[in-house]
Amino acid sequence: MESKSFRFLFSFIIIAFLLHHTWTHLPYAPPPDLTTLIDCATNSHWCTSKNRFQSKQPTVTKEPGATISHRSRCHESAVPRHPLDPLTVLEFNKVRSILSFHALFNSSNNYAFHSVVLEEPDKDLVRKWEKGQPLFPRIASVVARANGVSHVLTVNLETDEVNVRNTAPLTGYPTMTIEDMTSSSWAPLSDAEFNHTIIQRGVNLDDLACLPISLGWFGKKEENRRLIKVQCYSMKDTANFYMKPIEGLTVLLDMDTKEVVEISDTGRSIPIPKATNTDYRFSEQKKLQQELKLINPISIEQPKGPSFIIEDEHLVKWANWEFHLKPDPRAGVVISRAKVRDLDGEVMRDVMYKGFTSELFVPYMDPTDAWYFKTYMDAGAYGFGLQAMPLDSLNDCPRNAYYMDVVFAAGDGVPYVRSNMICVFDRYAGDIGWRHAESPITGMEVRSSPLSSIKIEK
Ligand SMILES: *[C@@H]1O[C@H](CO)[C@@H](O)[C@H](O)[C@H]1NC(C)=O
Ligand SMILES: *[C@@H]1O[C@H](CO)[C@@H](O)[C@H](O)[C@H]1NC(C)=O
Repeated sequence: MESKSFRFLFSFIIIAFLLHHTWTHLPYAPPPDLTTLIDCATNSHWCTSKNRFQSKQPTVTKEPGATISHRSRCHESAVPRHPLDPLTVLEFNKVRSILSFHALFNSSNNYAFHSVVLEEPDKDLVRKWEKGQPLFPRIASVVARANGVSHVLTVNLETDEVNVRNTAPLTGYPTMTIEDMTSSSWAPLSDAEFNHTIIQRGVNLDDLACLPISLGWFGKKEENRRLIKVQCYSMKDTANFYMKPIEGLTVLLDMDTKEVVEISDTGRSIPIPKATNTDYRFSEQKKLQQELKLINPISIEQPKGPSFIIEDEHLVKWANWEFHLKPDPRAGVVISRAKVRDLDGEVMRDVMYKGFTSELFVPYMDPTDAWYFKTYMDAGAYGFGLQAMPLDSLNDCPRNAYYMDVVFAAGDGVPYVRSNMICVFDRYAGDIGWRHAESPITGMEVRSSPLSSIKIEK
């Protein structure tokens, strides 16, 4: 029975998330006018030119046929169709245009938008909303800094009304913008003492890779400044620069002025590891390549296509389930309004209103000078969505996967598109990770697999 076999399939949502560590294709400075849309998939120079890492990356040659066959989406004219749909290009541009007249932003260029996302309508309203009904007024939630002060605002896209929510002085600092992160990798090089320190360590400045490490507040002298500690690595002879840290060297950087505030260099006696024979990439392993005959490509067949359908870009329907799926700069992926129809029932039953990964906290717990501040909050400081990388067809997601693009706002509010950042596909639930077996004494196999219950059509 067809419907029976569905029981054994699970839909999986995958987002390529990445740590704070992958720095290729960063959107950097936005174009000057409101109408140009940055499309990072076209390798626009806005997305690739400004980081030090790009030029060192090997070019990956794709397997033939590994192209994504989804219809190209016209983001410029996209409209929201569900109350929870993310802001569109038109809406981002409208937010930016409304705010450009606001008193906080109209008289200086000293501001940045650290987050521009949909302010979701009230849960009660969303729960009652049905397809075909008009959407609620679209409102953007904005976290911005202007002249050194953080603000949380809402912008009503229907009435142009801007509401500044400063109920109390805000403490802490918002998520870094991509521009903050990229410029932190360059800024130390404008300091002569920094250059001198690097050269003294025997590292060629052309081989240098510096990254903003975790944010934090470490004492009075850091008050009222947006400071970050930067750590540097040598990229000489390796793509894995993390294995070649310039240990004990910490640069305290002011993210607003891009000035080096302090250099702590306590690790001069610690050698930088050599990269000899450490490249793990197959393309670099000539001996392996000569000796191993590569196995043939694997394809997982779905002769009748995928079992899910996607309505209006964001609504995933699969078997007796449905949910709304959208990208988010901070959380990466947000699943909302997850509902299921019980097999003996008619109505869709609510299972989860909203779900996402709230944080990934990585405290290294090492009190030494170069390590005590390494207490990553990947979602809050860097943004899972901002750091995500495009998914590679047939490498990250199988055939028949559905790919979703993301549209986020850069630091000045200009929207940019990154393609294929989320994919949806079916997967067997009988894979090894799920399998549970009884002991051989019972002879019972406790393993659910469609292969044992479906007749495979030849
Ligand atoms: C900025 O906005 C405020 C408040 O609307 C207004 O009083 C002021 O004249 C504006 N300044 C400029 C330079 O447009
Ligand atoms: C530091 O070195 C970089 C790379 O060689 C160079 O571009 C920069 O001008 C140097 N900075 C100073 C202050 O000399």
